[in-house]
Amino acid sequence: MYVCVCHAVTERDLARAREAGAESLRQVMEATGLGQSCETCLEYVAGLLEGETSSAQVA
Ligand code: FES
Repeated sequence: MYVCVCHAVTERDLARAREAGAESLRQVMEATGLGQSCETCLEYVAGLLEGETSSAQVA
């Protein structure tokens, strides 16, 4: 599934960026190119990253 339609960034691309060490939204943006146009995707991706962080903190 695409997380950023403007730049054709998928959930898989996002996961690869995370595995390569991108932790913050800014780092994910730089690694994948998402969010560089309309910015509609940023809130969704921020929510995904926040969810991962919350899960990590609980575990
Ligand atoms: S959907 Fe990501 S920049 Fe437009």
